Amino acid sequence: YQTIKRANEANKVNLSVKKDIPKVVDFIDIEDITEKVSLCRCWRSKNWPYCDGAHGGHNKETGDNIGPVVVRHKEN
Ligand code: FES
Repeated sequence: YQTIKRANEANKVNLSVKKDIPKVVDFIDIEDITEKVSLCRCWRSKNWPYCDGAHGGHNKETGDNIGPVVVRHKEN
């Protein structure tokens, strides 16, 4: 059991965001997005759920290539 648990710990994506709740779900009202919003996909942001650029350090350390999803209005 300990071996399985250790393996699971190593596979965790979320290391620090809202660890006191069973599932992290965030809501952003579309009406509140004025121009655009960058949402974190690396789970390293200190400004969750928004991207704060922390993915850059993660990519550098690990050789990963992840970045945010940017939600924006269509340009007319
Ligand atoms: Fe996580 Fe930018 S900080 S995607």
